[in-house]
Amino acid sequence: MSEAIRATDALDSDKISSHLGTRRIGKKVIIYKSTASTNDIAAQYAKDKGNDGLVVLAEEQLKGRGRGGNRWFSSYGEGVICSILLTECRAGAELLSLACAVATAEAIGRLSKCEARIKWPNDIILNGKKTAGILVETKKVKSEAAYIIGIGINCHQKKRSFPAELRTIATSIDIETGTFTDRISLTKRLFTSVEHWLDIATKNGQKVIEQWQKLSTQLHHRVALVYNKKRFMGNCIGVDPEKGLILQLDTGGMRMFDAAHTTIAKE
Ligand code: BTN
Repeated sequence: MSEAIRATDALDSDKISSHLGTRRIGKKVIIYKSTASTNDIAAQYAKDKGNDGLVVLAEEQLKGRGRGGNRWFSSYGEGVICSILLTECRAGAELLSLACAVATAEAIGRLSKCEARIKWPNDIILNGKKTAGILVETKKVKSEAAYIIGIGINCHQKKRSFPAELRTIATSIDIETGTFTDRISLTKRLFTSVEHWLDIATKNGQKVIEQWQKLSTQLHHRVALVYNKKRFMGNCIGVDPEKGLILQLDTGGMRMFDAAHTTIAKE
């Protein structure tokens, strides 16, 4: 992508805040050109409850984190790299994580006009490949929990932008749509969608689960996973916000697998 094209959607807090229409998410937007991890920056603001809804964005992260100790790669100006701070959330981390997956899928789907689906726990999938990921981290402030919702969305990457080992499993919105994704519009949609699904999560968690299941790539399909170094296979029959993915095991019986100890494996 040439610098001239890139400049058109450079992150800009005035453009993002203009006609945003949210009450909570994006009340304050801080943009870095480059930082280690936006989640770390957002965490620094957690002590002050007045910072609830603050969002940290960056054009580039030098040490972007993913789930399970993985790195999150996104070169300068190529993605939406975003951390949303909630100084309180009645929904709890697990339901919050599902709600954010639904919100991110919805924002990507609406903007790209592609079908965005969710692979448990919260990979966002376009045409079978991962285009976004979510990492919810908690920070104890006195005795209360604050939440940092880290969202990374691949927008302008080309196939060669990804490390060789990711090329068959990762994609970007531009690759899938064949168009230029405006990151400002996507960021605004993301804030609106996160606020909407957070409201639902606090009022009616079941609605979040139902929508998550509707968007799931795995529900009613065979799933292989590794839990505490042991491999399991079965049919996915649902998701529980606290206990995780629910499988009807090939070996008989039903079992739940929590996100902290589970990795999805190849069949
Ligand atoms: C995953 O799929 O493993 C989760 C990826 C989360 C990446 C985002 S990018 C913004 C925020 N800052 C980080 O260091 N990680 C999250």
